[in-house]
Parts: sequence; C-alpha cells; structure tokens
Amino acid sequence: MKSPYIAKRHWDFEEAALSKTNEMVKRYEDVIDLSIGDPDYPADKGCIDKMHEEALAGHTRYTEFLGDEDLRRETIKQYKEDYGFDFDEDEIIITAGGTHAMYLTMEAILDEGDEVIAIAPYYIYYQPQIELPRGKLVVYNTRSEDNFDVDLAEFEKHITSRTKAVIINSPNNPSGKVYSPENVRGILEMAEKYDFLVIADDIYGALNYTDNKKAICSYEERPKRVITIYSYSKDYSMTGLRLGHVIADKELIATMRRVNEAVNFTINSMSQRLGIAAIKGRKEIQKGLYDEYHKRVMYLYERIQRMKNITCTKPEGTFYVFANIKATGINSMDIWEKILDEAHVLVLPGSGFGEAGEGFIRIACTVGIDTLKEAFDRLEKMEIFK
Ligand SMILES: Cc1ncc(COP(=O)(O)O)c(C=O)c1O
Repeated sequence: MKSPYIAKRHWDFEEAALSKTNEMVKRYEDVIDLSIGDPDYPADKGCIDKMHEEALAGHTRYTEFLGDEDLRRETIKQYKEDYGFDFDEDEIIITAGGTHAMYLTMEAILDEGDEVIAIAPYYIYYQPQIELPRGKLVVYNTRSEDNFDVDLAEFEKHITSRTKAVIINSPNNPSGKVYSPENVRGILEMAEKYDFLVIADDIYGALNYTDNKKAICSYEERPKRVITIYSYSKDYSMTGLRLGHVIADKELIATMRRVNEAVNFTINSMSQRLGIAAIKGRKEIQKGLYDEYHKRVMYLYERIQRMKNITCTKPEGTFYVFANIKATGINSMDIWEKILDEAHVLVLPGSGFGEAGEGFIRIACTVGIDTLKEAFDRLEKMEIFK
C-alpha cells in the first residue's frame, strides 16, 4: 500500500535490478562486487590539487547558469581538437553528471506521450528518465546473434508519429558495443526523414577500444539534430564529482537552462574548475584509464574463452564484459542469484537491460586483476561452468 501523499504517477515505478544490489552485496561476508559501474581507478591527483587551489581562490560561489565560462570554452576547444566539431558557448550547459544531463534533455523535449526509442540492451535508468517527464519508452531489441548491431529496417518499425528521439549509447552499457558508422548514419537519416532527435549518450567515449572513434555529434556540422550527453564519471573515473554537460541547439539549451534554474540552480563550482584541469590533462589521464580497463576486460575475455557454457565477444568498449550464459539453460535472473550464492560474486542480470539482454550477465571490471582472478577462480569451480 502506497502512502496517499505520494503522487499516483509514482506508484507504479518499478525498482531497477540495480537497486537490489545494496542488499545482495551484504548476503555473504566475502562477496566480490562486480555489479555497479563505479570504477576503482583513482581520480587524478593533479586535478584534485587544482580543485583545492581553485576553491581557496574563491571558486565556491554560484557560477553562470549555463556553467563556468572557462569550462565551457575549454570544452569547445576540446571538441574542436578531438572531433573537429564546432559549437558556441550558448550551445552547451554544464550539468551534474550524465543522469542530470539526460533529465534536463528529456524535460526539455518531451510532451506527454512523446516516445523515445532506446536501443536494447540499454542503460536501465533511461526508463524513469523518459517516464518522469511523462514520455513513453519504446524499446528496440537488437539481437546477440547479430552482435547487437542495429537492423535499420527493424529499427524503422519502431518509429511512430510520436517519436521524439532515439538514444544511442556507444560504447554501450551493458554490451560494450560500439555502433558502426553505417548504423549511426542510418539512424541519422531516419531522424531527418521522420523528424526526430538523436541523443548521443557518450559517457564512455574515452573507453572505446576500436578504430571507430568518431563522435556522433561530428556527423553534423553544428548541433542541430544531435544532442550530446557527456559525463566525467567514467572517462575520468570521477563518479562522485557529479560533472557533465549537454551540447545541443541553442534553443534547446536555453530551455534546459530554464528548467535547471528550478532544479539545481547552478552546478558545483569546484567540480567545474576541476573539469578544466581534467580536459587540459585528458590525454595523459585517459591513457592510464584506457590501458587499465582494456587490460581487465581482455583478461576476462581470455578467461571466459577457457570456460564451459559461458562465452563473450571481444570487448569493444567500456569496462563491462557482457557474457552469454544461454548454454547453461538458466535465465539471467536465476543465474544472478546462483552465482552470488555459490561463488559469492555479484554481477548483474542481462535481462535488467531489456529483453535483448536475456541470457547474459554483465560483469563490471571495477576491481583490479587480482580480484578479477579470484572472482573467476570461484566461478570456474561452479558445476555449470566446469
Ligand atoms: C550509459 C550510461 N549513461 C549515463 C550514466 C550516468 O552516469 P553519471 O550520472 O554518473 O554521469 C551511466 C552510469 O552508469 C551510464 O552507464
């Protein structure tokens, strides 16, 4: 029974699979937690020192509503250098991470009943992010047999007169998939044809292990149809910093700014100053992260090749390994519990990421190789993987 004080539209919100992990991790004393995507890689010390310095120098007050001017300028310079993509200072708003960026985006673009297509397997929180501003989630399920590629003809069938946007998250959480230029171009062409927006959730942009590193925004000359969501959480290993941005057409950004003045007013000023240092040092900082996560996902990839009833394709991005467990004959919710009870290892069930994720488990490589080794030594002892 819900409290009568809670608005009725919140009564039916389902708890995401992720929310249960807080209790599950306490089930045994020696649980190895490979569930949540909160990386252990240390935040860059030089950036933290700089943030401290900047705070002492007085950067502890409200910033401009669109975000610290220096940070916006540095971000413009970065996109130009890295992707050859140009935008103006009023085409970006600094946010408190990717979650807040997505919330502002949805609030700015959705009328009641407008539809947003998520390409599954997809990041679980897209559902409430779309539903909170009264939108409707439409799931397009890719197929593991097709390596999670988008079948453009199938995708097109999900477009209706209410389609307002599609989210492309590449590299993808949970699958690590990097969508091909043909897929991205095909979706952009459909966006033109049917007049909807393309939201690029680029928060794992620096953890792309393929040669296909072109940012989705740079398929356009300037921000028009593409809205870019970015976060420092994963690419800089600073989940607690709560820093990110949205890049979009300036009318959309002006709307997000108006919304945000009522939601967050302005973003943490010290985080924003740290952001400037992070961008300046990005080549070095991200090389360390990239090498470490690549090493970890490749370690798991190689171990999985030697096991029974579990497979995975070569990791393309992120720090997740999305492993196929269909050969065990056990569904992903049950195997999630079984792995916890028998091996004391906590992963996430693939079905929590949409129907396309059924038959998979997501393993977050947010611990060092030694702990991953221990986790897989335990998994290997399970009867189903012998
Ligand atoms: C695909 C994707 N988008 C957005 C987020 C939100 O991250 P944050 O709010 O920390 O930037 C996450 C976090 O795991 C994610 O995996």
